[in-house]
Amino acid sequence: MEKKILFPQVGGFLHGGDYNPEQWLDRRDVLEEDVRLMKLAGVNCATLGVFSWASYEPSEGEFRFGWLEEVMDRLYAEGIYTILATPSAAKPAWLDRAWPEVMVTGADGTRRRHGERGNFCFSSPKYREKVQSVDRKLAERFGSHPGLLLWHVSNEVGGECFCPLCAERFRGHLRRRFDNDIEKLNRAWWTPFWGHCYNDFSQVDPPYSNGENSIPGLVVEWKRFSTWNLTDFLKTEIRALREAAPQIPVTTNFMAFSQKLDYREVARELSLVSWDSYPSFHNDREALYDTMAGTAFHHGLIRSLKPGIPYLLMECTPSVVHGMDYNKQKRPGIHQLASLQAIACGSDSVMYFQWRKNRGGCEQHHGAVVDHLGTGDTRVFREVSGVGEMLGRIREAAGTVPEAKAALLVDWDNRWSLQTGQLGSRHTKNYVETCMALWKEFFRRGVEMDIVSSEASLSGYRVAVAPMMYMLRPGTAANLKRFVEEGGLLLATYMTGYVDQNQLCYMGGFPGDGLSELFGVVSEELDTLYPSDRNRIRFSDGEEWEVYDYAEILRVGDAQALGVYAEDYYQGGAAVTCRASGKGKAYYVAARTSPEQMGTLFERMLGEAGVPVKRLPEGVEYHRRRGEEGIYDFYLNWTAQAQTVPCAEGTDLFTGLHTEGGALKLEPLGAAVILADAQGNV
Ligand code: GAL
Repeated sequence: MEKKILFPQVGGFLHGGDYNPEQWLDRRDVLEEDVRLMKLAGVNCATLGVFSWASYEPSEGEFRFGWLEEVMDRLYAEGIYTILATPSAAKPAWLDRAWPEVMVTGADGTRRRHGERGNFCFSSPKYREKVQSVDRKLAERFGSHPGLLLWHVSNEVGGECFCPLCAERFRGHLRRRFDNDIEKLNRAWWTPFWGHCYNDFSQVDPPYSNGENSIPGLVVEWKRFSTWNLTDFLKTEIRALREAAPQIPVTTNFMAFSQKLDYREVARELSLVSWDSYPSFHNDREALYDTMAGTAFHHGLIRSLKPGIPYLLMECTPSVVHGMDYNKQKRPGIHQLASLQAIACGSDSVMYFQWRKNRGGCEQHHGAVVDHLGTGDTRVFREVSGVGEMLGRIREAAGTVPEAKAALLVDWDNRWSLQTGQLGSRHTKNYVETCMALWKEFFRRGVEMDIVSSEASLSGYRVAVAPMMYMLRPGTAANLKRFVEEGGLLLATYMTGYVDQNQLCYMGGFPGDGLSELFGVVSEELDTLYPSDRNRIRFSDGEEWEVYDYAEILRVGDAQALGVYAEDYYQGGAAVTCRASGKGKAYYVAARTSPEQMGTLFERMLGEAGVPVKRLPEGVEYHRRRGEEGIYDFYLNWTAQAQTVPCAEGTDLFTGLHTEGGALKLEPLGAAVILADAQGNV
């Protein structure tokens, strides 16, 4: 596997963050000190201009880019590269005043007022025109700057706009989707129920909060439309940049598993993906390891948006966040470990929000590398410098990528469908939590697992898990069948295959679209349990799993029942089944059980599939990045105790020492990166 070096001119990992120098243009001393401190902290990259529209274009048509040029030049002279953002996330006041149509309209149909950020209309022709104009100017002026690495389009995009322009574009989307035939829409959305038929596309409204929310097909299609519309908006930005600077790659910074839009649609338009990570460190709900397992899930989700190349951690805090219920400091050492986690998961950067704390305004208390104290002798600054040093030691791993043999199948529109469908309980569906919990069982065993669409090619994977795949995309069933036929081991759960992409229930038995043949079962009933209800699944070897929340009652065809319910009117009925098909097997788990208990089945599947499982002590995380020149094993100890892990023979990149293989000792909250010899066999 060849290395995919994102930025050869940097020759290693990016280290830096959001830098907003326009606040300090009257303080040259501050700007000079920034450069000095950046070098001291091992920073090689700064993200400029994320919210700078008002500084670029203080009044309409009057552009001022001189300050930006000076800063970029100054940074570049010191070996610090620039990621340059387009400023569409924060509109200047004059723009909102002149063209109210650019301001976002909420679900109640009310237009928001000027202020805040990230609140523009994606359809407004005026907004698109104005954004393109400032983007084009930026690209023309800075596109060939030697310090420019990457375009950062807008900021944490997402959301919906319910204005008349968006409503009209929604109708256009529906016309295309249903071949301009309103009867097709009526059939797809089953509108005769409750007499909700439409005579014409002009009668269809977005799902206003005080309007039509009772047609599941409409509600989910609106989400798909919003993704399409926002992507279309971003494409206008990308086009403006590429016209003037086609050689510069493009990204946008995603959030975690945001429910606002389908990141896969946006990712197609990007050269590489990036995201902003803000876990609740040291919270009182869970162990640090569990918090960080959740973060690793999101790293995996983002990485899987563009498989085979590194992604970027665009933002994280070096210390505290702001605006959450509790903004707790990252404890000493944790920033370094969390940074290494990002790298271990396949990021080629550690970047912060933000470099220097703003004196006033929103987020003035959000963590930054340089505090209001203004010096480099703080704990946080030292920890950031430590990260700079660490990234230097492992720089040869940049451009390598983790390799996953297991996949979790997750679809955004399945998530929306589950939210919309009135199945089960409104309190316990917990799709995202369920996905994360099952994913974690692989993580705990040191098995890298990608998070991909149910329609994605699964040819590189040996094991796939599809939790609660309630809605099947058009290609999903065929994809899953192919995977199993060709030797894959697939596991699906309760609530699989109830509806198609229009939210129409499959007739003739769930899971639909032919999947009941693949699994050899039909789900005849879904029992929704109250929180204190329990059942059990009993296996022939005496093992028992606890059942809670959901239990499907199965008719078993040609599948083998591995476990049966122990209680209630479906006692003795199959709950866990397996059916061989082609060269592979399809497992079905009909009830919600504890993830740890399902983990034992995953382990069996991994064994059958020949995917190695690592025996890691609780609280230790493992990843492997691979490139032509080397295999890099990352071990992270999230516990306050020393831990010993099995490791391959190789070189410890932190100490420079050779390890014989076998046992590797990790200090409390310690980590190691081993460049493995030969094949890296443990
Ligand atoms: C991000 C955002 C940044 C900053 C940061 C800290 O979500 O992109 O601009 O607000 O959070 O809160």
